[in-house]
Amino acid sequence: MIGIPTDKLYLVGFMGSGKTTLARALGRRLGWRVVDLDEEIERREGRTVSQVFAQDGEPYFRKVERDVLLAFLPARHVIIATGGGTFIQAANRADILADGLTVWLDAPFNRIVDRVPSDGRRPLAADREAFAALFETRRAVYRLAHVRIDAQGRIEALVERVLHKLGW
Ligand code: S3P
Repeated sequence: MIGIPTDKLYLVGFMGSGKTTLARALGRRLGWRVVDLDEEIERREGRTVSQVFAQDGEPYFRKVERDVLLAFLPARHVIIATGGGTFIQAANRADILADGLTVWLDAPFNRIVDRVPSDGRRPLAADREAFAALFETRRAVYRLAHVRIDAQGRIEALVERVLHKLGW
């Protein structure tokens, strides 16, 4: 794909679509570093994502998320597993699309529901009705990724799908 840097991968998609798992498998296969933005946020903040939301609110979380994203822009040969909302923010989206091949991991809602408990660990998943509405509205944005891959299937098959998109 002309003009898109292929020495970096971003995985975007809804909570529970399997971004972190796929990022780790791709990292092993490519020998690239794997960065999970939520983990980096938790490391930087010294508390969990749900604590950040509860104590300082979502706008603060989005600010930290953006700072962490920006800190990794210079890194190459890295796979970035974003949080479900990272690519939804317009400024993040522009930076991500310009910085690396952006892969939307598209999972059906029934699989998401099975994988994301409403236990408070993901603050935006607590209200199931709002969660379903968020899934629908966000799909229109994830669609703006460079490529879409079906999140269903064995992890090995998903890795091959991404490598194929990379032209490997
Ligand atoms: C969020 C998704 C979460 C985490 C935070 C907000 C979102 O990441 O960043 O709870 O807005 O969809 P995962 O997609 O890794 O669950």
